[in-house]
Amino acid sequence: MRDISYDIDRTEEVINYHKSDNYSQVYASSNEKINFLFSDIDVKGKNVLSVAASGDQAFHFYNKGASLVDVFDVNVLSLYYYYLRVWNMEYNHCFYLNSFKVSKIKKILASVTPKNDDEAMALSYWKLFVKRFHGNQLRYMLLNDNSYNNIDDLDLIVKKLKLRNFKTYNFDICETVNIDSKYDIIYTSNISEWLAKSFRKFNIYESNLYNLLSDNGIVLSSHVSWDQVGCDELYVFQKYFDYKDISCVLKSGGKINFGYVYKKR
Ligand SMILES: C[S@@+](CC[C@H](N)C(=O)[O-])C[C@H]1O[C@@H](n2cnc3c(N)ncnc32)[C@H](O)[C@@H]1O
Repeated sequence: MRDISYDIDRTEEVINYHKSDNYSQVYASSNEKINFLFSDIDVKGKNVLSVAASGDQAFHFYNKGASLVDVFDVNVLSLYYYYLRVWNMEYNHCFYLNSFKVSKIKKILASVTPKNDDEAMALSYWKLFVKRFHGNQLRYMLLNDNSYNNIDDLDLIVKKLKLRNFKTYNFDICETVNIDSKYDIIYTSNISEWLAKSFRKFNIYESNLYNLLSDNGIVLSSHVSWDQVGCDELYVFQKYFDYKDISCVLKSGGKINFGYVYKKR
């Protein structure tokens, strides 16, 4: 069981713009073009592991028909935020939170009956959050300069989420990862950009992904700022994976690369 009051103390630091390894601002929504990134991928009926971040990535997998989507994140606060968004969809029928006011969060919490231990813990966290913070302080816990990705089937997302068959994991994908499940798709978002060009980390990252994938499984690795990082990732990953660009061709004939799809060999 986590120490929720410790998590709230750390949240206060984040709200005051301090961050540490496992506690930092959370993406309010994704800054990636998720619909474009998914356009070439067959998601229907697949078991997925996705970075949690804002939750958008995971919810889009449900929107495209994935069977199950587990989420992971090194940031503890992302996983709490994930549940807040799940409840907002289930009880308010809204995809995005339309207000960051503590009074609105209180209303959401009043509807929640937790269905498992993780959800009960998230509910305790948010109940303590609304006691400690006021006004729209949630806004300062969030990185809010992102774009919005439309979904086309909120009912389907809610139906899948209601089953509560997903797991939320707090781990660093570049350290030891203990999960028994295997996944058809792993979405890493742009984690490579956070690896500070460390080849030690890239190697552990690659080997964790490889071991978590089922046979023929794929990693969808997107990039937001394209530079040497993408090349470093490719250098390590291509030893064990076949790969394909995710790119779009410009009118000028040039090409923009948004990342890679890696297929387990
Ligand atoms: C890489 S960031 C980028 C956000 C992304 N572009 C989006 O649209 O949401 C996504 C998430 O990855 C998490 N993350 C970064 N490095 C990680 C790591 N080594 N292990 C697990 N999660 C990580 C961050 O905490 C963040 O929530």
